[in-house]
Amino acid sequence: MTESISILGIESSCDDTAAAVVTARDGQAHVLSSVVSGQDDLHAAFGGVVPEIAARAHAERLDLCVEKALAEAGLDLSDVDAIAVTAGPGLIGGVLSGVMCAKGLSLGSGKPLLGVNHLAGHALTPRMTDAVAFPYLMLLVSGGHCQFLIVEGAEDFTRLGGTIDDAPGEAFDKTARLLGLGYPGGPLVEQEAKSGDAKRFKFPRPLLDREGCDMSFSGLKTALRRARDKIIEEKGGITLQDRADLCAGFQAAVADTLAEKSRRACLAFQASTGKQSAVFAVAGGVAANSVIRDALTGAAEQTGMRFLAPPLKYCTDNAAMIAWAGVELYRTGHRDDLTLSARPRWPLDKTAAPMLGSGKKGAKA
Ligand code: KG4
Ligand code: ZN
Repeated sequence: MTESISILGIESSCDDTAAAVVTARDGQAHVLSSVVSGQDDLHAAFGGVVPEIAARAHAERLDLCVEKALAEAGLDLSDVDAIAVTAGPGLIGGVLSGVMCAKGLSLGSGKPLLGVNHLAGHALTPRMTDAVAFPYLMLLVSGGHCQFLIVEGAEDFTRLGGTIDDAPGEAFDKTARLLGLGYPGGPLVEQEAKSGDAKRFKFPRPLLDREGCDMSFSGLKTALRRARDKIIEEKGGITLQDRADLCAGFQAAVADTLAEKSRRACLAFQASTGKQSAVFAVAGGVAANSVIRDALTGAAEQTGMRFLAPPLKYCTDNAAMIAWAGVELYRTGHRDDLTLSARPRWPLDKTAAPMLGSGKKGAKA
């Protein structure tokens, strides 16, 4: 008989409340349901995620999301093999809401509990969507994260580098706020940039002069604000064309930086694993940006790697990836119990030096 594992996944580490059921059978992942309840409307007025508001919304919505996910999957709690929940890193109030919900379900049903690292959920997604074999290279690029990882096993990650300050999604959101666009800023900045001249403003490509894969995006935001203020000083305000040019220039700077650092990460991956033509995969909301996707595809092509972007609904925060990471953990024999704690910080690479700083979405682990 072929092995079949069904896991209920729960995610609440940032501003999406999510529950999903994933079954692994015949070497394939089947996403039976994936429910995501977003909170953009609750945070839009603030231009970023407000932790307390997020935590309260999670607490209100978790039960409903779990119920819906089980109903859509056509399963009862007694049918799943385990309950996987994001136990960090993230905004602690949200993570706690999810962990407490999962503990209650585990206690009530007698099903084992699996604490999943949110970043591992993102990093293992290509195995769920495309059955990608280990090892592969992953770029996590979202509102709270930006890092390159060599993924060699369900619990075996090597961090090649990442941002030393802001994550790119955060920089997109701040840019949108500086230019009076809405929230979340990424899609709006991308839309504006379409009618802009990317060459008009010379924005910095930070840390390209430094070896390795580390990145920095906070200086870019300052450069953008200066450019905006200069136009206002000279002309008394900014035109729609000025705004489009600023967006295009900013987006090009992020894309160029990610492309060059990706090229270096691909080379470092090849040197470390001896594999020349493996997968270079991306996850996180910024992967929705088509200019950035093209830049990453180019970096992969230059180095002989194969670029892979999973469907966007599994690139952004969702619980199917947590359920899938649960499948992988379950297979290794890993089990947690009611002592599982919620962790605001939880680096994937146990050997990496701790990161500095903490942004609007908490730890940039
Ligand atoms: O992965 P995600 O949904 O949530 C986390 O941050 O964990 O990513 C959301 C981030 C936001 O900062 C948003 O502005 C950015 O991804 N984003 C984009 C685009 N779509 C979403 N950034 C650039 N271009 C886009 N098209
Ligand atoms: Zn995420």
